[in-house]
Amino acid sequence: MVIRLLLSVIVYISASALGTSATNQFCEAGIKYEESGCGLSSSSKILITGGTVVNAHQQVIADVYIEEGVVAAVKSNIKVDDDVIVLDATGKFVMPGGIDPHTHLGMDVLNTTTVDDFFTGQAAALAGGTTMHIDFVIPVNGSLSAGLKAYQKKAEDSCMDYGFHMVITKWNEDVSREMEIMVKENGINSFKFFMAYKGALMINDELLLEGFKKCKSLGALAMIHAENGDAVFEGQKRMIELGITGPEGHDLSRPAVLEAEATGRGIRLASFSNTPLYVVHVMSRDAMEEIAKARRSGQRVIGEPIVSGLVLNNSGLWDPDFTTAAKFVMSPPIRAAGHDKALQAALSAGVLQLVGTDHCSLNSTQKAFGINDFRKIPNGVNGIEERMHLVWDAMVESGQMSPSDYVRVTSTECARIFNIYPKKGAILAGSDADIIILNPNSSFKITAKSHHTNSDTNVYEGFTGKGKVEVTIAGGRIVWANGELKVVPGSGKYIRMPPFGYLFDGLDRADANYLSSLRAPVKRFKS
Ligand SMILES: *[C@@H]1O[C@H](CO)[C@@H](O)[C@H](O)[C@H]1NC(C)=O
Ligand SMILES: *[C@@H]1O[C@H](CO)[C@@H](O)[C@H](O)[C@H]1NC(C)=O
Ligand SMILES: *[C@@H]1O[C@H](CO)[C@@H](O)[C@H](O)[C@H]1NC(C)=O
Ligand SMILES: *[C@@H]1O[C@H](CO)[C@@H](O)[C@H](O)[C@H]1NC(C)=O
Ligand SMILES: *[C@@H]1O[C@H](CO)[C@@H](O)[C@H](O)[C@H]1NC(C)=O
Ligand SMILES: [Zn+2]
Repeated sequence: MVIRLLLSVIVYISASALGTSATNQFCEAGIKYEESGCGLSSSSKILITGGTVVNAHQQVIADVYIEEGVVAAVKSNIKVDDDVIVLDATGKFVMPGGIDPHTHLGMDVLNTTTVDDFFTGQAAALAGGTTMHIDFVIPVNGSLSAGLKAYQKKAEDSCMDYGFHMVITKWNEDVSREMEIMVKENGINSFKFFMAYKGALMINDELLLEGFKKCKSLGALAMIHAENGDAVFEGQKRMIELGITGPEGHDLSRPAVLEAEATGRGIRLASFSNTPLYVVHVMSRDAMEEIAKARRSGQRVIGEPIVSGLVLNNSGLWDPDFTTAAKFVMSPPIRAAGHDKALQAALSAGVLQLVGTDHCSLNSTQKAFGINDFRKIPNGVNGIEERMHLVWDAMVESGQMSPSDYVRVTSTECARIFNIYPKKGAILAGSDADIIILNPNSSFKITAKSHHTNSDTNVYEGFTGKGKVEVTIAGGRIVWANGELKVVPGSGKYIRMPPFGYLFDGLDRADANYLSSLRAPVKRFKS
């Protein structure tokens, strides 16, 4: 009775009805619920029985009992009252919901805005088994606080939990001061620097070093977009001069060697200041090998491949149909076949640690801005909805990775790096009830006709595979079941991420050892 009443306030979205108009209608109609009002998280009791519960550290057949939006117990044969919803997961995997470390929802790109806002992008994520994402706040005119305010507004209609990274678009004393406020007062513990986008976002090595130093002092993780911006600019000019104006020019203008150069340079500068470093969207074998080398030497470097880099190759950019080719344009570019398999191997070997998407959804109308010049094609591909399925199929179904390692790279490691584990990234008593049930014997098929993001295209069009997310539970609510989404605008919570995560453990001792090893200044006799 109570349950039925609460369900009536939920916005139902069926797969077919979810287009731009359907979802924005809900937002524009101002349908929002206070935390207490949306209710299900505080009142719904759920028991998942008989499934294989997978955590990064072990997998075990057990029941999972959820109450008040958190996991109350994980053990065999839990007995419950009649008012509890029971889900039978026999023969299926019960896993922590995915955490996507790299998304761009509602972002302004060139002179347009991504077609997925926080609400539609998150709804799509939930349908694909992702229950939290970390989005990049873009400063407004260089002001971090103005940027944060703008993103807080964008995120008001959130239907799943989210956190923020902050992008640094220029460097000065104000920015440095504001970084401290972001970390100490606003729950942000990571900052991204651009080594590419000359004349816009790119910062030089001097400022990168300043940024690294500041991050280290705050216990915040420095992230880099690693491409040599000067060389990319030169490469673009070269292609235009050769009359290559189509999407293949995007591929040709920024080869893997430029990604490897910047990755290596960023890593060496981070080593010089003994600062932990996170390399976003590792797209090439070349860049991955820079990371492998640094990690072998003991440096604290995290490498994040994204789904497009793991399962696609550059053939799409060469498609004779412009709309098809343009949808694959993102930076660094999707590489030639071979890089994908090398990145998969690096992920299975632990050289790369977690998988993101760089979800930045643009439709064919927006991509067509660059019909005569690939430099004007807004960059970005989808993935927030597809990541969990594609990584399962490419890594687990193929035999390259265990279910536990899958949980690690899609959820747990992200939670650990950004210092919110085990509230997120685990199915343990006390963890948030963000859980998926995956049927390994079911299959999935991806197509723009049935996906939940707002775009009319999908870079994974036609992909099929084994392993289907049948149920998604977010914050203790069943939001995806029987192919139907039930999401509540405003029910997603902002997750504050505290500084000094595990990557900072012991840094002070290492620095002290370094200082004592200098054996300097040398004592000299006065003449
Ligand atoms: C999936 O297949 C395996 C192996 O045949 C079986 O053990 C398991 O119970 C099946 N699960 C479901 C949900 O059908
Ligand atoms: C950005 O800052 C410049 C000066 O620093 C100012 O002239 C301009 O009006 C600002 N733009 C916006 C949109 O606030
Ligand atoms: C490159 O990608 C296309 C499209 O997904 C695929 O058909 C092709 O097999 C891939 N090529 C190689 C060599 O993997
Ligand atoms: C793409 O999005 C823009 C802006 O939201 C919209 O005006 C346009 O009609 C969309 N195009 C397609 C093909 O859906
Ligand atoms: C954005 O710029 C492109 C050219 O780069 C132009 O074709 C398009 O109409 C512009 N869109 C808007 C909404 O101004
Ligand atoms: Zn990105």
